Amino acid sequence: MRRPIVAGNWKMHKTAAEAVELVEGIKPLVAGLDVEVVVCPPFTSLQAVRAILANSAIGLGAQNMHWERQGAFTGEISSDMLLAAGCSYVLLGHSERRQFCGEDDSLVNRKLACALQADLCPIVCVGETLQEREAGRIEEVVLGQVGGALSGIEASTARAVLWAYEPVWAIGTGVTATAEQAEEVHAMIRHFLAEHLGKAAADEVRIQYGGSVKPENAAELFAQDNIDGGLIGGAALDAGQFAAIVKAAL
Ligand code: 13P
Repeated sequence: MRRPIVAGNWKMHKTAAEAVELVEGIKPLVAGLDVEVVVCPPFTSLQAVRAILANSAIGLGAQNMHWERQGAFTGEISSDMLLAAGCSYVLLGHSERRQFCGEDDSLVNRKLACALQADLCPIVCVGETLQEREAGRIEEVVLGQVGGALSGIEASTARAVLWAYEPVWAIGTGVTATAEQAEEVHAMIRHFLAEHLGKAAADEVRIQYGGSVKPENAAELFAQDNIDGGLIGGAALDAGQFAAIVKAAL
């Protein structure tokens, strides 16, 4: 049985004081629910949010990290820094980073190797653009991203990776993939992972869906066989909406 996981990607929102207010709102609303809940605030809010999360089951994640453990990389943040700031999770290869910061599969692969080595739980984001979908290239693009991220990573280690299927056309647009569209790609990813990790291991891997998930559509998405929760953007910035989405994963 795969335990559902719902993570909030706060993107470039919330100062430290605002982040504290948001997580104070979320904490009581999701307490005691049998869902793995994670919040991913900006780097500058990690410490403040961590203090609020003490004695709570909510996990803390970062939105990005560098692929080296330390060094002359101005403006970057390492896995060791994230661990020291209380993070257990890290988002890697979000489409906004691929689109706006030039991240490609080989960079995501290096970051993934580093996160796994550091014992941070990576959430690797994959997904096609509308143009790629319309050109019939979903499988090629999405599985290319999954395979690219895993390049050279041992199967025994790769089973610890969490995946998020986030069709780029559904992110922040209000257009959600239908449950059928999402399930089709999730099943495709799991099938691909089975070839690389073995079926038993692939059956344990969790694959989140992301892209305009709201309280109204979450339950139908999460009810699909291969959808194990969500990675939430806009709706994660509202405690009530985020908690409602977490409850939809029960
Ligand atoms: P939205 O929920 O705002 O569409 O964002 C999804 C996302 O990018 C989460 O990482």
